[in-house]
Amino acid sequence: MGHHTFDADRADKLEDAGRRYRYVSGEELLWALAPDSSDTVADLGSGTGFFTDVVAPHADTVYAIDVQEAMHDHYAEKGLPDTVEPVTTGIEELPFEDGSIDGAFSTMTYHEFASDDALGELRRVLTGSGRLAIVDWSGEGLGERGPPLDERYTVETASGSLREHGFTIEHTFTRPETFLLIAVVE
Ligand SMILES: C[S@@+](CC[C@H](N)C(=O)[O-])C[C@H]1O[C@@H](n2cnc3c(N)ncnc32)[C@H](O)[C@@H]1O
Repeated sequence: MGHHTFDADRADKLEDAGRRYRYVSGEELLWALAPDSSDTVADLGSGTGFFTDVVAPHADTVYAIDVQEAMHDHYAEKGLPDTVEPVTTGIEELPFEDGSIDGAFSTMTYHEFASDDALGELRRVLTGSGRLAIVDWSGEGLGERGPPLDERYTVETASGSLREHGFTIEHTFTRPETFLLIAVVE
């Protein structure tokens, strides 16, 4: 894993819609991931499913992947959409066949999982035309919200790591506090 893992006791913070949509909107996430209704998609570090719920109506299956069972419990209490399957595992060891996932996305979590093992696993499970959309707190951000600046990555550093693991960077954008990155399998 990367830096410290989000505390499941603070799960209610992930459901504060006003604060969440300030940093990434559902519309923006759907644009970045561009899921097809027949796609199998993975949400990397899904937490309480706040953004899983945004993608769920637009894909065939969304695997909600989180290393903390307690996060899936919070999501289940809220109600799982029919298309969502929770999977309790680290991104470093995904229980999927090679090339079996059409798209993956991650919101505010890249800094927690960005190890070589995790990025290698992601590349392994994505199809040859797989798409990856990441929104996370920027290392160049203001630091007014989110994790400490020294626990974050810049979009350049994240892009470099993804290139090293077989991705091409299609789009990057840095905002005052966050970055958005779209990568595709080479
Ligand atoms: C800051 S929360 C964000 C949750 C969700 N993406 C959102 O935006 O609402 C990060 C989540 O990622 C999970 N996580 C962190 N590292 C992980 C890893 N290596 N593998 C799987 N899940 C991980 C944590 O348990 C936590 O639920």
